[in-house]
Amino acid sequence: MEKPTRRQMLMAGGTLGAYGAMSLAASAQAAPLWTWSPKGSVAGAGEGADPRWVWDPECDELVASLLDSGQVPNVNKLLKTWTKNGQALPAGLPAELRTFIENARQLPSWTDKAKLAKAFEFNQKRGLYLGVTYGFASGMMSTVIPKEARAVYYSKGGADMRDRITKTAKLGYDIGTEKAFDADGEMIVTCVKTRLAHAGVRHLLPQSPYWQKAADEEIPISQADMMVTWHSLPTTVMKQLTKWKVPIPADESAAFLHSWQLTAHMLGIRDEYIPNSWAEANSQAAQVLDPILAPTPEGIKLADMLLNLASFIDLGILSKPVLRALTRYVLGDEIANWLKIPRELVWDPIFANLWEPFVAVREGILDLTDAPPQLRDVYWVFDEIIRQMVLLVLSGADYPISIQIPVTNNPN
Ligand code: HEM
Repeated sequence: MEKPTRRQMLMAGGTLGAYGAMSLAASAQAAPLWTWSPKGSVAGAGEGADPRWVWDPECDELVASLLDSGQVPNVNKLLKTWTKNGQALPAGLPAELRTFIENARQLPSWTDKAKLAKAFEFNQKRGLYLGVTYGFASGMMSTVIPKEARAVYYSKGGADMRDRITKTAKLGYDIGTEKAFDADGEMIVTCVKTRLAHAGVRHLLPQSPYWQKAADEEIPISQADMMVTWHSLPTTVMKQLTKWKVPIPADESAAFLHSWQLTAHMLGIRDEYIPNSWAEANSQAAQVLDPILAPTPEGIKLADMLLNLASFIDLGILSKPVLRALTRYVLGDEIANWLKIPRELVWDPIFANLWEPFVAVREGILDLTDAPPQLRDVYWVFDEIIRQMVLLVLSGADYPISIQIPVTNNPN
């Protein structure tokens, strides 16, 4: 592995690099090596720089200067009106920001519109399972990705998880809409705003005494971290759907991957780190995601907050025992135990024994009369759980949902 020089750090991370340069050598020893080859990426080649030391320099420097000069509240206000991909940017934005966004909103040359149309078909057909897996596989998994859990907990969003979830869910929702990346879609806007929000976090979080104390890094959200989180999304979701034996034609699976590759690019992840196939994605995830999953005090608290979210509104069936059991079923015993999720005597066996037959019946692979008899009693409950999950996520939002650049950290 090449060790970054102080100069490379400063170039990569802007002024933030100064914090990092000091103790890089020590943390570089502790983290797993990045040996994944850029040959397997959408770029097909690359410099092979270790993405743990690469952030988003252009965006980071710009947002840091906007924060330091107190312009972010006004920028957020103006950007609230920018919602559609093809819409002109509002007047009054600082010139450098306008130039940056005009550039960042361009789709890469490898965008494949036919695949995006197919991805929409897939999202429509599988939307309900996708809702559950984004929420319970990806969302809950984020609490056992230590760097992400700490970043989320100590950033502004950590103080209001409900708001944070609805904003994050906007991305999961937008990617599944028809024409997500077209002029009248919203996904490009969502990605670019998220990219700006991440740059804000990179500037603010190192100023949080709480984060400084808990974190084992100086600058959060490296390109490697983003790929880790990316794998907690499409890679993990596809693994779950395959495990549940949801039938997915190869072209739909490739199209779903494409929509997420494009999302990675639009979030500012370099093409040389984005896997070009599911095989490459799985091999990268085995290297960067699986080994780093671990409990942290912050992640345990976040998981508890997430499992309590349903009680904010009365959705009846989405009670805490159901959500706990669903989490244990989806993520497995080890992670559920890390998160101190108690066993549910009634619901754990129901999910373990009846979820797969439920999916099979729903998919027309199994006739309800041939399914375990208990499924007849809970079939509608499972259906309702899926439906209410979607409602739960959407109901917390102040419409229109607007992703913003944070100006503070979590005060606690
Ligand atoms: C904000 C998605 C990677 C930490 C956001 C938002 C979205 C998002 C949609 C805006 C939500 C909001 O404003 O509350 C993603 C996706 C990622 C990714 C799709 C990867 C593919 C990461 C990583 C970290 C991280 C790797 C940390 C290690 C944060 C934090 C915020 C944020 C702290 C701001 C919360 C706040 O202050 O309100 N992200 N993210 N994200 N993200 Fe990410």
